[in-house]
Order: sequence, then C-alpha cells, then structure tokens
Amino acid sequence: MTGKHHQLGVVILAAGQGTRMKSRLPKVLHRLAGRPLLGHVIDCARVLEPVEIVVVYGHGGDQVRTRFTDEVDLRWVEQAEQLGTGHAVQLALPAFEQADRILVLYGDVPLTRPETLVELVAASDRFGLLTVDLDDPTGYGRVVRGTTGQVERIVEHKDADATERAIREVNTGIMLLPREALARWLDGLSNDNTQGEYYLTDVLAMAVREGMDIQVCQPRESTEAEGVNTRSQLAALERVYQRRVAEQLMAAGVTLRDPSRFDLRGSLRCGTDVEIDINAVIEGDVRIGSRVTIGANCVLRDVVIGDDVEILDHCVLEQSRVGEGSRVGPFARLRPGAELVGGGHVGNFVEIKKSRVGRGSKVNHLTYIGDAEIGEGVNIGAGTITCNYDGANKHRTVIEDRAFIGSNSALVAPVTIGENATIGAGSVIGKDAPGDQLTLSRVKQVSLSWQRPTKKT
Ligand code: UD1
Ligand code: CA
Repeated sequence: MTGKHHQLGVVILAAGQGTRMKSRLPKVLHRLAGRPLLGHVIDCARVLEPVEIVVVYGHGGDQVRTRFTDEVDLRWVEQAEQLGTGHAVQLALPAFEQADRILVLYGDVPLTRPETLVELVAASDRFGLLTVDLDDPTGYGRVVRGTTGQVERIVEHKDADATERAIREVNTGIMLLPREALARWLDGLSNDNTQGEYYLTDVLAMAVREGMDIQVCQPRESTEAEGVNTRSQLAALERVYQRRVAEQLMAAGVTLRDPSRFDLRGSLRCGTDVEIDINAVIEGDVRIGSRVTIGANCVLRDVVIGDDVEILDHCVLEQSRVGEGSRVGPFARLRPGAELVGGGHVGNFVEIKKSRVGRGSKVNHLTYIGDAEIGEGVNIGAGTITCNYDGANKHRTVIEDRAFIGSNSALVAPVTIGENATIGAGSVIGKDAPGDQLTLSRVKQVSLSWQRPTKKT
C-alpha cells in the first residue's frame, strides 16, 4: 500500500437489527461461506491496511462484539438507538485517533471486492462515492447529477419525487470522506425528512456547497454493493460468492464437475490437475496436492491431502492428513487426528480417529480405529474394532508392521499386536499378541444335535 493510505480509517455500520431475517441472531452474524457477514466486511477492510477500524453495533449487540473478541484490531462503538446512518458515523468519529480519511462500509454488504475499495481510495483524497446503475433502483438513494453531469446530492427513495425516482444510478452507501470536514457536516445534519433520520447521504450536498469535488467509482459487478436484509438475499449472495470462488479455482486449473454445486467455507489450496465432483463442501483450511480426485458428496474440513490421492464418493474428513497415493472411501469417515501415511486404502464404513495408519496399510470395510498406531503393510479385516474406551479412559492400540487382523476382531486396548502377527477371525484380544504367530481367542467350533424350539399356539 502506498503512503497515501496511511491515515485511512474504516467505519463499519452494523447497528441495524435485521428484523426481516426473523432471527434472534443479529443480522451481521448470519453466515456467508461459513463466516459472519460482518467478518467478510472486516476482511475486506483489512486489505486496505487502514490505521483504524471502528465497528458501530446496535443495542443488545453484545453477541456481535463477543463473536469478534479475538480480532484485536477492531474498535467498538455502541449505537443504542438507530437514528440514522449519519448519526451512526457521528458516534464513531471520536473512536478514531489517527485517521484523517474515513471510509464508510456496511456490516451487511459482504461481497465488496477489496480491489473496488482500493480504486475508490486511490481515486480521491477528498470525497469518494461508490455508485451502481440498477435496472430496478427501488428503495435506494438516487444520485442526482447537475446539467454538466457533476454529482450534486443524494436523495433517499422515500424522499424522492417522480423525476428523481427515475434515476437509475444509486448510492451504494460506501463513501470515502475527509474526517475534519465530515465532523463539521455531521454536526449540521437535520432529521427533517420522511424517515426522521439523520442521513449520512446529506453530507454530500454540503461538500458540493463547499466546492468539493466528488469522485465517483463503480464496482465491476452490482452484487458488490448488495446488502442482506432477508434470508433469501443471503442465499442469493452465498451463490454469488460460491460462483466467484469456483471461477477462481477453475482459472487456477482445478476441474469442478459442476461449479454450481461446490461450496467453499474457508480457504482451499490445490496443486495441479485436481478434480472435484459435485456437492463438495470444503471448510476451514484445506490443502490438496496434485492429481487428486474428490468424489461426489464429500465434506473436507481442515484437512491436508497429498499427491495422487483418490477420495471416493460420500466421505467426511475432518482435521486429518491423507498421505500421497492413498485411496479413501466410498463412505469413509476420518475424524480429528487421523493420519494416513500414504499408499494405503481406507474403505467403506470405516471410521478412524486420532490414529496413524502406516504406509500401504489397508482398512477396507466396516471398522473402527481409535487411538491406534498402525505400522506399514498391515491388513485390518472387515469389522475390526479397537475397543479404546473402558467407560472412563481411552487406551492405545499398537499394531506393528505387516500384522494381519482377522475379520470381526475386537482389540481391547491397551494392547499391542506384534510385527507380522496374525489374529484369527472373530477374536477378542485383550492381551498382547506376539509377532510372527497366530493368536486367536474363540470358542472351538462344535456341532451338536439340536432341535429348534417351535412356536406355542
Ligand atoms: C442507505 C443509504 C442509501 C443507499 C442504501 C444502500 C442513507 C440515509 N441511505 O439506505 O442512500 O442507497 O443505504 O443500501 O444512508 N445503520 C446503522 N445505524 C443507523 C442506521 C443504519 O448502523 O442508525 C446501518 C444499518 O445496519 C445498515 C446500514 O447502516 O447496515 C444502512 O442502513 P439502512 O437503514 O438500511 O439504509 P438504507 O435505507 O438502506
Ligand atoms: Ca438498507
């Protein structure tokens, strides 16, 4: 960022209640792509490297503050009564210590691109206004221009006459303002209008009266200026966001089978030639290597996937690592702390938690592996369960290299299965099994003559 931006301050207006959301949750905490609406605005503001960010929140909006307690660069101002956007900015001004230019953003307008704001801030060192042309400008403040095209004032929809209502250029609400003059203008605001509010938009005419030049910028897409008032609008902007993300991924070389059925709620980094089938939900921080395929209907949350991995349909992976050359699924679940070193298989209806599975090992069917350390080249038969929980504590299971666990075995932890050991199918193993030997625990097979009881009538 150039030195010119050093004194930039950002105020985010977020005091509105959002009645039309019909929710107990304040509107700006409703989530888009997994992050509160307000979070998107804050992230965008941060790209500009402002010296200060002030958030104006509403009465009872403590939930909002609490949600962002970890984000220490924010200052908070409460606006107990919403007397208008001008009033909100006026309350915020004393919270700025260094800023000499104030950029006004809105907590419920989540999709503004940082590039658009960079342009606005660069275009003007005095008064900047972001506008859009809308086919249906109903409800918005209209930008009234004079005979030579210069911006003169903004008139709110409710205060506008028929000629003004015909104007299609509207105020997005996003403005860049000189702080000193702004303080003065705000003192001079009146609420003598249809809504009885102190309109921030009225400062524009004041600036014009003082001979100030108004620099107008427009975003690339009008969705950048769209706000959320209803759940329907929230859903629409979610799609806009997801489409943007999908386009970026495809431009970067990722194949998406259907970009309209792809959801990213966090960040995704991919190597080359990654293919993602429909209905993927990717959350948190996900890293995928090269030549990886992700099947249909998979959820990946905070996972790292190596090169040449195949994740088949219907898998749920969370806080896990999948090493190169692994094949997972269909219908597999990797829970926090699962680590597949690589080259192995995890098949259907297998759940793995807090366990490391060594190179080339296979856990193919109907199995629970928890708190275990599995060596290389191990084969875990169908239906194997590590009994890691005694009702009070968790215990570890160790399975050494090349061991073979017969189907439907219960390994009662703590227990160690030695290198190259074989466990007979259907065994309950509560004591360590030595390496290289067959260990089994089951009732010997017997055959007796037997008459099945018959139903009494
Ligand atoms: C405002 C603009 C209008 C513009 C439109 C774009 C004014 C007077 N009008 O109208 O020109 O076209 O946005 O969407 O500014 N807020 C507070 N405190 C308040 C009032 C509002 O924090 O006292 C916040 C709201 O939470 C909301 C934003 O400011 O996020 C806009 O307020 P709203 O009342 O919705 O303004 P509009 O009537 O939409
Ligand atoms: Ca609004």
